[in-house]
Amino acid sequence: MKGVILAGGKGTRLYPLTKITNKHLLPVYDQPMIYYPIQTLVDAGIRDILIVTGGNYAGDFLQLLGNGRQFGLTSLNYTYQEGEGGIADALSLAEHFADNEKLCVILGDNIIEKGIREAVEEFRRQKKGAKILLKEVPDPERFGVAEVHKGHVVNIEEKPKSPKTNFAVTGIYMYDATVFDKIRTLEPSARGELEITDVNNAYIREASLSFSFLDGWWTDAGTFDSLLRAATLVAQTRRREGAKP
Ligand code: DAU
Repeated sequence: MKGVILAGGKGTRLYPLTKITNKHLLPVYDQPMIYYPIQTLVDAGIRDILIVTGGNYAGDFLQLLGNGRQFGLTSLNYTYQEGEGGIADALSLAEHFADNEKLCVILGDNIIEKGIREAVEEFRRQKKGAKILLKEVPDPERFGVAEVHKGHVVNIEEKPKSPKTNFAVTGIYMYDATVFDKIRTLEPSARGELEITDVNNAYIREASLSFSFLDGWWTDAGTFDSLLRAATLVAQTRRREGAKP
């Protein structure tokens, strides 16, 4: 399975922090934000990784990450999203890289405590379709929210005003190669983006979307509060593990 990290977008919710850099290069405790999703993929045994970035500071990724040697990789792949047409638009740029293989996609601002190796192994064994990871949260209206019925996700709503459950769809998605045909059928949403939630709902219609719950804490880091929360959670975890002072 190949890995894709989506690190485009303007990061306007973090302005002016993102005025002169890309959101995913901002510090989260002791590392740049982008390190965390890379490490998540590497820890899951994924070695072939594409980073989709955009904006004015794309060159800084190359300078920071090079060929990914600090993660034990021998190479990293990069591509560039023009504008910010949404998460599914960014993912569409991975079609050539995927070359018909399954993909594990992670949003560049998603940080987790534990690993996803088990879910990745489960998806390796899944014949077709997609797999998403859910997390119970106190503020589901900030996320894609999954409605679960008799052990299946029956619908996902993007940032609903009155969420039907507390199950947030995390920014970790696994797809078969049909994802690109599904993206081609999408229309921009009210916020002018190609939505990953619409991709996932297309898999639900085909009855080929599986899910599991993510173990350990999970946070995004795209707002001032969640960026602070991410740094605090990482610091607490490091302290607990005694890895660093
Ligand atoms: O964090 C999980 C949530 O991420 C999901 O629950 C939602 O269903 C999903 O839509 C997404 O919600 P956000 O509105 O928080 O996503 P945001 O626009 O902040 O984008 C998240 C990442 O996706 C961002 O760090 C980089 C990447 N991205 C985003 C856009 C809009 C791109 O690469 N290109 C883009 O055009």
